[in-house]
Amino acid sequence: MDQIIVTGNGPLSGQIPIAGAKNACLTLMPATLLSEEPLTLTNAPRLSDIRTMTTLLQSLGAEVQALQDGQVLAMSSHDLTSVRADYDIVRKMRASILVLGPLLARFGHAEVSLPGGCAIGARPVDLHLKAFEAMGAELDLREGYVHAKAPAGGLRGGIVEFPFVSVGATENALMAATLAKGTTVLKNAAREPEIVDLAQCLRKMGAQIDGEGTSEITIQGVDTLGGATHRVVTDRIELGTYMLAPAICGGEVECLGGRIDLLAAFCEKLDAAGISVEETPNGLKVARKNGRVSAVDVTTEPFPGFPTDLQAQMMALLCTAGGTSVLEEKIFENRFMHAPELIRMGAKIDVHGGTATVTGVDHLRGAPVMATDLRASVSLILAGLAAEGDTIVSRVYHLDRGYEHVVRKLESVGAKIERVSGQ
Ligand code: UD1
Repeated sequence: MDQIIVTGNGPLSGQIPIAGAKNACLTLMPATLLSEEPLTLTNAPRLSDIRTMTTLLQSLGAEVQALQDGQVLAMSSHDLTSVRADYDIVRKMRASILVLGPLLARFGHAEVSLPGGCAIGARPVDLHLKAFEAMGAELDLREGYVHAKAPAGGLRGGIVEFPFVSVGATENALMAATLAKGTTVLKNAAREPEIVDLAQCLRKMGAQIDGEGTSEITIQGVDTLGGATHRVVTDRIELGTYMLAPAICGGEVECLGGRIDLLAAFCEKLDAAGISVEETPNGLKVARKNGRVSAVDVTTEPFPGFPTDLQAQMMALLCTAGGTSVLEEKIFENRFMHAPELIRMGAKIDVHGGTATVTGVDHLRGAPVMATDLRASVSLILAGLAAEGDTIVSRVYHLDRGYEHVVRKLESVGAKIERVSGQ
């Protein structure tokens, strides 16, 4: 298995282009299932999760062509051959459940394997299923699969009130509601930029949607949807990750395509920690204001709060801050697996339940460490940038799910980082 070796070597300088958002692309791709007409996505990221979604869509009979080195995805669901998403593909990626809403809405029935657990918690899909029930679907869980059936005449609009915010359940319900009969209201909906991006794409396809980006989304169902071409929004998590690189080891980096509105809560915390973020015509320029980073407390929340997907990377920064920071993880249980690895590098971290207390140390030291999930793996690379000596990160396949060309991007701003093939 491949490893990444990072050698801390001081300040970074230059520009890093930020890719299109993995999480937006993973919900925009299943939207092709809603229509007979082609859907083309531009600014798609080149990632293994996107290839997994491609395989899943192809297994249903959709055409998916990766053009321009994978940055353009030309899709057509004109001749679908199946409405069954198999366990073998779904178990690899939880976002596979996002094919259920579109299939059910267009064909009136679908069978999708339950995704199962994952490293960062149980992550059930009950909210997705309750939303479909509110639109009249009958659901049966058998042999690990959800067998979903719409009423005769198709899904019906309804009131879907989510008991708590779920990004995936909002996306699935939003897609299904575009083809339901009548009006659907999603209450306590997620407000993430990826939801706004999905709604904008669906609207180009002919959907009637109001209120995306707020906690109440209203959808007036239409009979059919058409084709569209849509540019995937910037990946705010990749953006935040690279913003932390100069924060953690000094220097100044401009993240091309970056926007503060995608990450306002995160930028506020960077400011409090002593990191300056400046808007430029091309993106965001980030630098350490002066001296040591200050400790800050962070609580993860649904958008517009601090994203859980940047918690691990922020922890890497706070490991060398002056003072003690408290990080509270409110979205996922068991999302501190990076803490023991950072401790191997000399960090002082106490984890109790969903709270991690980080006391800054003067220096981290390179060590062999193991990536445990996508965001944890990149937090170890960030920590390695600040550490003395070599940090050897193994199990980097996690990284390939969500970061394209991480070695090339960091190298281009002066980091000493290489990927080596393992036995
Ligand atoms: C999406 C993102 C993920 C991010 C997360 C929270 C994608 C592909 N992934 O995941 O990177 O970390 O949002 O911002 O977009 N839950 C239930 N029942 C459900 C659904 C969710 O209990 O039916 C729980 C989850 O276990 C979790 C919380 O709700 O504790 C939020 O999860 P959710 O917002 O649904 O996350 P995902 O859509 O899976």
